[in-house]
Amino acid sequence: MNIAVLGTGYVGLVTAAGLSEFGHTVVGADKVAAKIEAIRQGRVPIYEPGLDALLESNVRKGTLSFSPDLAASVRAADVIFVCVGTPQGDDGSADMSQIEEVSRLIAENLNGYKVVVEKSTVPVKTSVRIKRTISLYNKTGAEFDVASNPEFLREGAAVSDFLEPDRIIVGVESDRARDLLVRIYERFKDRVLVTNIATAELIKHASNSFLSMKISYINLMANLCEQTEADVEQVAKGMGFDPRIGPRFLRAGIGFGGSCFPKDIRALIKIGDDLGVDMSLLKETERINQGRIRVFLDKLKTALWILKDKRIGVLGLAFKPETDDVRAAPSIRIIQALLDEGAAVRLHDPKAAENMKEFFPEDGVRTVYCDSPYKAAEGANAVLVCTEWKEYADLDLGRLRGLMANPILVDGRNVFDPAAVAARGFEYFSIGRR
Ligand code: UDX
Repeated sequence: MNIAVLGTGYVGLVTAAGLSEFGHTVVGADKVAAKIEAIRQGRVPIYEPGLDALLESNVRKGTLSFSPDLAASVRAADVIFVCVGTPQGDDGSADMSQIEEVSRLIAENLNGYKVVVEKSTVPVKTSVRIKRTISLYNKTGAEFDVASNPEFLREGAAVSDFLEPDRIIVGVESDRARDLLVRIYERFKDRVLVTNIATAELIKHASNSFLSMKISYINLMANLCEQTEADVEQVAKGMGFDPRIGPRFLRAGIGFGGSCFPKDIRALIKIGDDLGVDMSLLKETERINQGRIRVFLDKLKTALWILKDKRIGVLGLAFKPETDDVRAAPSIRIIQALLDEGAAVRLHDPKAAENMKEFFPEDGVRTVYCDSPYKAAEGANAVLVCTEWKEYADLDLGRLRGLMANPILVDGRNVFDPAAVAARGFEYFSIGRR
């Protein structure tokens, strides 16, 4: 099958590489020519474990190529996956201008029947808009179908999620489109759920919001644990044994960030509000998440009282480990609050430091980026952990302590064992346990 993947961000690159791995001939297209040139030269613009190798092997096989020419890519394709960005506006709604733009481009290059598949996270009923836009600008009268095939990739595990998905949702409104999409995912036919388009679109939102709810729920329990003798890690473990609940997405901490959960939940709330559906369950989920930063900073203030002129080491900037992505990372709000209160920050992340410099440029005085966690701890009045990178769990705590002005560790991701940290002479604050 000839496939065009429009957009080469996290979703587009993984989709292009994965579909060619399944044996299809794929062109990844992006209007930013410099990005395409970099990818062609083997410089992958994002950090995603396993992606470089997958891209390289499929490019070498000749089944995967990249092009800055979206029009030509559309003309050559039977199926077009739309993976362009849908950044969030201030009111929670997604900015759909890139989707509209590629829909017009597809219409203008419709030289025969094609299926246009929305893969970007989009509000319910976007397909109706895409269909209307393509019809509006379709000069040849060629037939087409619109379909929805939402992605469930987790950053940091996106390649394995794509190659070994737990489900494939295919939202279609014609048998012809269904047959093509089912063929694309032939090898996973036991895991394909075919629905109508609105259902497929909603499954994505419903899944992400449910997982967000799970996280806010355990964070609410963490708040309770902190007022009692209970330990949230044990509470989560105990709950997780129940197969109806399951152990995953029950890690208490400083809350969910990233490009999906915060955006998706706000988008779903907006959709519900617009449709007159009471969305208070999800509003609370979001409110609890917003409150995590205050809970975390209060721990730091319990330790240091006043943050003005204090030096704070921050370990972990990415919104989660194994990614260089800082979009909606809780660390952004934490660092902003520290700077607002007059503290100086020493920041470390194994992968995300460069991206964070766009939010907090290095000034060498109040904002310093460090190439090791130990450097970030030098002279610090406290060290905060904002991302649970494995290398932090493996830190030499004795060495860390020796570098700090005050041995105070505030762990927003429960990376450390409280007894081990205390044995090293730290005053230790973590989430939902004493
Ligand atoms: C998510 C969905 O998992 C994925 O299916 C969807 O396609 C895109 O959004 P991603 O944003 O990459 O993936 O990360 P995920 O691993 O889901 O974590 C999201 C946020 O929740 C992170 O900030 C993470 O730290 C936080 N989280 C996750 C918790 O605080 N506790 C948990 O138990 C799990």
